[in-house]
Amino acid sequence: MIENRKEEHIRIAEKEAVSSEYNYWDDVKIIHQAIPEVDFDRIDTSVNFLGRSSSYPFLISSMTGGTDLAKRINGNLAAAAEHFGVGMGVGSMRAAVEKKELADTYSVINGYNIPFKIANIGAPQLIGQKKPAFTDSDIEYCFSLINADFLIIHFNFLQEMVQPEGDRNARGVMKRLKDIASSYPVIAKETGNGFSREAALELKDAGVQAIDVGGLGGTSFAAIEYYRAVKASDSEKMHSGKTFWNWGIPSPASIRYCDVGLPVIGSGGLRNGLDLAKSIMIGATMGGFARNFLSSADKSFDALKIQVDEIIRDMKMTMFLTSSENVGALRKARYFVTEPLKSWFNAYGE
Ligand SMILES: Cc1cc2nc3c(=O)[nH]c(=O)nc-3n(C[C@H](O)[C@H](O)[C@H](O)COP(=O)(O)O)c2cc1C
Repeated sequence: MIENRKEEHIRIAEKEAVSSEYNYWDDVKIIHQAIPEVDFDRIDTSVNFLGRSSSYPFLISSMTGGTDLAKRINGNLAAAAEHFGVGMGVGSMRAAVEKKELADTYSVINGYNIPFKIANIGAPQLIGQKKPAFTDSDIEYCFSLINADFLIIHFNFLQEMVQPEGDRNARGVMKRLKDIASSYPVIAKETGNGFSREAALELKDAGVQAIDVGGLGGTSFAAIEYYRAVKASDSEKMHSGKTFWNWGIPSPASIRYCDVGLPVIGSGGLRNGLDLAKSIMIGATMGGFARNFLSSADKSFDALKIQVDEIIRDMKMTMFLTSSENVGALRKARYFVTEPLKSWFNAYGE
């Protein structure tokens, strides 16, 4: 059952250690500026993303929907998105397509004034699997259910490989994506394994409007599926989950690889405002936080607010200490990278 799977994902992500073993944001070293020449209280954190204005350079990444628990989480995330003036995504909307009575676990966010909302469907659903592909009207249903501004198509093929009920076919996805991208403003997104340069160029060619790198360093879906496999005593999937736990392209490297002339969302493993600032320095238009917000969003809006306030304070401190009075200046702040990230940066001979 899709609802049980969603609930299990949330509970495992909250309770277990499901991050990849290494966080590559630690390999980005920022040069401190002792003479900032900036008034902290006048730092401008706003940013423009595809014509939408966001008060801060991050969004709340797609996570959930489809259960009562997910409805509560989406409600609190939406309240935070409104309060802070940032965009947000909902999780994969397949549950709502399959069971219309679950619609409000997503549309709960419509009660909030959010700068931009992002619908979410999986690339595997673009083509026939064991179940038929999403139709045009399924896609329109998802988009209009939350009055979306953008449509994320998420690429999660590693997860599909590791989960017991996973979809195994990827042939024909890009042809269908090209169709959809001619009717909807599509953002292509990974879910923790990042996009290569080749993938980014293919996505650009298919007409997507932005790329969310969803790189390696934070939540590992191989790890999440490993814990599900343990519960189900599925030794084959336990093995795959362990083997591919750290698979993927580090988020900062993927931001570089995705520098193909489209806005980039730098997500995957962001822990705080310092990591967020690093994602901007490396070239992202904005960052994205997912699992980091999960437990607070499960508790209350107030818990989430405390956490987001911390992120903003740390990001602004980083801006101040790099002499960056706005996000444009932060993009030019000085940094260098150490191993192992350095080798990832050089992988395309840069
Ligand atoms: C519980 C949970 C559920 C998720 N569900 C989705 C989803 O439905 N669609 C999607 O595009 N990404 C989904 N993600 C992936 C996140 O959006 C993000 O790409 C990934 O977790 C890496 O970011 P993080 O390290 O900040 O968690 C989910 C993540 C978590 C933790």
